[in-house]
Amino acid sequence: MERYVIKGGTPLSGEVEVGGAKNAALGLLAAAIMTDEDVTIENLPDVSDINQLIDAIANIGATVTRNDRHTVTINGSTIRSHVVDYEQMRKIRASYYLLGALLGKMSQAEVALPGGCNIGSRPIDQHLKGFRALGADIITDHGMVNAKADILTGSHIFLDVVSVGATINVMLAAVRAEGRTVIENVAKEPHVVDVANMLNSMGANIRGAGTDKIRIQGVPKLHGTVYSTIPDQIEAGTFMCAAAATGGEILIKNVIPRHLESISSKLMEMGCTVIEYDDAVRVKAGDFIRSAKVKTQPYPGFPTDMQPQMAAVMTLAHGSSTITESIFENRFKYVDELNRMGAQVKVESNTAFLTGVGSLEGAEVSAPDLRAGAALVIAGLAAHGFTTVNDILYILRGYERFDEKLRNLGAIITQVDSEKEEQKFKLKAG
Ligand code: UD1
Repeated sequence: MERYVIKGGTPLSGEVEVGGAKNAALGLLAAAIMTDEDVTIENLPDVSDINQLIDAIANIGATVTRNDRHTVTINGSTIRSHVVDYEQMRKIRASYYLLGALLGKMSQAEVALPGGCNIGSRPIDQHLKGFRALGADIITDHGMVNAKADILTGSHIFLDVVSVGATINVMLAAVRAEGRTVIENVAKEPHVVDVANMLNSMGANIRGAGTDKIRIQGVPKLHGTVYSTIPDQIEAGTFMCAAAATGGEILIKNVIPRHLESISSKLMEMGCTVIEYDDAVRVKAGDFIRSAKVKTQPYPGFPTDMQPQMAAVMTLAHGSSTITESIFENRFKYVDELNRMGAQVKVESNTAFLTGVGSLEGAEVSAPDLRAGAALVIAGLAAHGFTTVNDILYILRGYERFDEKLRNLGAIITQVDSEKEEQKFKLKAG
């Protein structure tokens, strides 16, 4: 089984280039099928979640051309099916964007209910509420969602919870609806704005993405485009935390510093120096890590996708820190793993209480989900001795060449798939 083996204790230093945002790219890929013309998407991360959505898109008949590792051209004119089965959905939760995209394009879609990272119950009721408001009949039966409309008509929709997925999905369904749609209480994440920008470059008329209210004037037809995915805020934040936890200094390139503000300001509060450039940030660890309090919030608040990585830093702080998770109810599964490395973390309800221990000890741990897996890697990089992180398939869903990028920063880490390889690495690394 694939795992990372890490010899911790080296402060990371040097430069790293961040790839395209996975969560933006998932929305962009779904949007790409909505026209019959060619859509070329650049700066796609080469990670398994993206590759699986591309497979799902090819599976319904779209023509997919891989131009290079990070660029794909999609032509939706050859789509012959509106059904995305459980096999595809099981692999990747965000195939649910094909529900909104197919409904918008073909007025019907049949998509299996999503799986994905197990970090909470993750309902899609708000997506369905939006589709219904646009005039779709929705039937859920035997794990499939069936959405069908004679004609989609613009509507006024108020989302009960701020949801990235529902915002993007309803936006996809509404771009070609007749008349005007207003969606209120929407998510403001950079990837919501990115999907709106690409749709607008395809001829859609979407205003207000990035605010609480999105207004869409339906258009009958969309056309092709060439579009580049925004940089990944969470990949960048992960390297920022790796610098802080290992006492290092990293220049993180190809980022939009504004998207990182909640992470930068928290790390500065914890004693790091963060310098922003036009498209890069430099993070230098302080002499010691100060404790802090974090509460996850929708953007521009502190991202839930960064809380495990921040927890890894907090285990090393002077004093006691807290993390309150207000988006997903089951996102502390990594805590037992951190405690195996000598951390002192207790969870009560939706809050983790972290008593800083100054240093961690290497151990064998398992990644319970994507971001928690990244947090365990950070902990391993900071710990004394060897750490083995099992179940890294989760990590590979969202980080491209993670171990290679870390090695370029001086980390001693490798990916192995057997006990023999692990022993060999350990012998060599001493
Ligand atoms: C997206 C991101 C994920 C990130 C999350 C929050 C993608 C592919 N994934 O997930 O990495 O952690 O945003 O930033 O972009 N909810 C409902 N009903 C719904 C939809 C959501 O109650 O119909 C609730 C969820 O249970 C959760 C909250 O709303 O408590 C936010 O979820 P949402 O923003 O939808 O997360 P995802 O889009 O699934």
